[in-house]
Amino acid sequence: MDVSSSDSHVKRFDFIVLGSGIAGLTFALKVAETGRVAIVTKKNRAESNTNYAQGGIASVTSAEDSFELHVRDTLEAGAGLCKEEVVRTIVQDGPARIKELVELGMRFTEREQAANGDRQFDLGREGGHSKRRILHAKDVTGREIERALLDAINRQPNIAIFENHTAIDLITTQKLNVGCPNRCVGVYVLDNKSGKVDTFVAGNVLLATGGCGKVYLYTTNPDIASGDGVAMAYRAGAAVANMEFIQFHPTCLFHPKAKSFLISEAVRGEGGVLKTLDGREFMDAYHPLKSLAPRDIVARAIDSEMKKGGLEHVWLDITHKPAPYLIERFPNIYQTCLRFGIDISKQPIPVVPAAHYQCGGVVTTVDGETEIAGLFAVGEVACTGLHGANRLASNSLLEALVCAHRAAIRVCETKPEMPDLQIPDWQSGHAQDPDELVVISHNWDEIRRTMWDYVGIVRTNKRLQRALARVSNLQEEIHGYYWDFTVTRDLLELRNIATVAELIIRCALQRPESRGLHFNLDYPEKDADWGQRDTVMRRHE
Ligand code: FAD
Ligand code: SIN
Repeated sequence: MDVSSSDSHVKRFDFIVLGSGIAGLTFALKVAETGRVAIVTKKNRAESNTNYAQGGIASVTSAEDSFELHVRDTLEAGAGLCKEEVVRTIVQDGPARIKELVELGMRFTEREQAANGDRQFDLGREGGHSKRRILHAKDVTGREIERALLDAINRQPNIAIFENHTAIDLITTQKLNVGCPNRCVGVYVLDNKSGKVDTFVAGNVLLATGGCGKVYLYTTNPDIASGDGVAMAYRAGAAVANMEFIQFHPTCLFHPKAKSFLISEAVRGEGGVLKTLDGREFMDAYHPLKSLAPRDIVARAIDSEMKKGGLEHVWLDITHKPAPYLIERFPNIYQTCLRFGIDISKQPIPVVPAAHYQCGGVVTTVDGETEIAGLFAVGEVACTGLHGANRLASNSLLEALVCAHRAAIRVCETKPEMPDLQIPDWQSGHAQDPDELVVISHNWDEIRRTMWDYVGIVRTNKRLQRALARVSNLQEEIHGYYWDFTVTRDLLELRNIATVAELIIRCALQRPESRGLHFNLDYPEKDADWGQRDTVMRRHE
């Protein structure tokens, strides 16, 4: 590869993978057969949204199910905005990818063997699914996926993992202003511990940085989810779409000390019922599927009941199930709630909705290609068209698995034409200020609160405009700060959540209708014309 740099902070690979969740690890394992791979990840290697996934992976594996039904349920949940050909491809590729994952060492929960001795998965049910089709490892599916993939990565000598390294920005020929067709040639990366910034160079870069739950005050996501990939791709000039569709999970544990703990939709799949504080079941007034209606409907119903009754939370009641069953099926949820003093076999669980999943993202094909040559995106960071205006439960692990495989094939088919380049080292300000931390945490808090209060489950034009004014002011302040001061992970994340917050608000303002997860009181109905249109954002220099 003919790329050089002015000093030795340069690391060269064939592939750079940003992120070590299901998307990044799956892709890395596949391309490592053909070249050297660097996985860059912000914290320790397992820390990711994937690691906390509970419910499981949706895929058609039972004789009672069919691709047609999975496609129909996905389209129904997506409220008219899914790309049907993408839905079909991902649904149909699912079983082969599940088989590979099992061969790699993934242990899904099984039921007794079928009479003919075939493997029989225990299939869970979640909101919006007309059949049982969720493969799971009890209620810690994500932890088991990370274990299996990381074990396989350890056996692969072609992969180097850089933990505690934060990608700052993509390096493109356009930014370098070298007058050749635009392509991505690498990434600037901060070593969180030493504070040094290195230049990682490769002909192909995969964004697998996950979602942006931390843009909101209350979220099910861990701290890594600050929308870095969307912000980086946007700054590099790639198209970003449908960011208004932020999914709020209906049931996050309500407890002052339980940061971000999810109560899986699988609990409702096994009969858990939502109730108001006086014990009234309310979901039958909102949807025929009651507590198992699609997520957008359940989250809005809870929000409405909480507002009507001035409630701090609602109940999720699974007390009709015997304790031994709950301990076996939901060991993590059972034990975690017990630590907070709630015995779910005897008491209802206090729950509230919280930001959970980004349905939009960097625009890609189903093979992970973005508009920028050499830049791929897979997983929650990407917008393939699978989810439309509302993701069907447990379709995101499926999408990441299928699209990582397809992207690996595509990337190996295309030989990068790397120009002969001199890449400058990262230039950062050198000022350090004892006030830095307090300003960063104050601005973080202000953005997250603004998004929660004005860009949440129910929106209005006035609230969106108010949020835009606040976030724009903060953007200016952060911009000045960013170029003067030494970069730290906190500062990088602050800049990224501000960018992503602005993208969410601008997308929301652009859509004059209510659809799926975007509900605006000023336009409470769907608009047929907008049913075919994505809200696309591109940065104009
Ligand atoms: P992630 O798994 O989030 O991985 C992102 C990686 O990128 C991390 O390693 C992170 O450290 C790294 N990263 C981020 N920014 C940078 C940067 N700047 N530099 C370097 N590294 C960076 N979906 C389902 O289908 N089924 C479920 O049961 C399910 N349950 C869920 C439960 C919870 C609590 C949560 C939060 C989500 C759940 N989801 C579920 C959603 C699903 O887990 C995620 O959408 C999916 O795991 C995303 O995978 P990913 O590989 O795209 O990103
Ligand atoms: C859950 O277990 O409820 C999460 C499932 C998902 O987000 O798809």
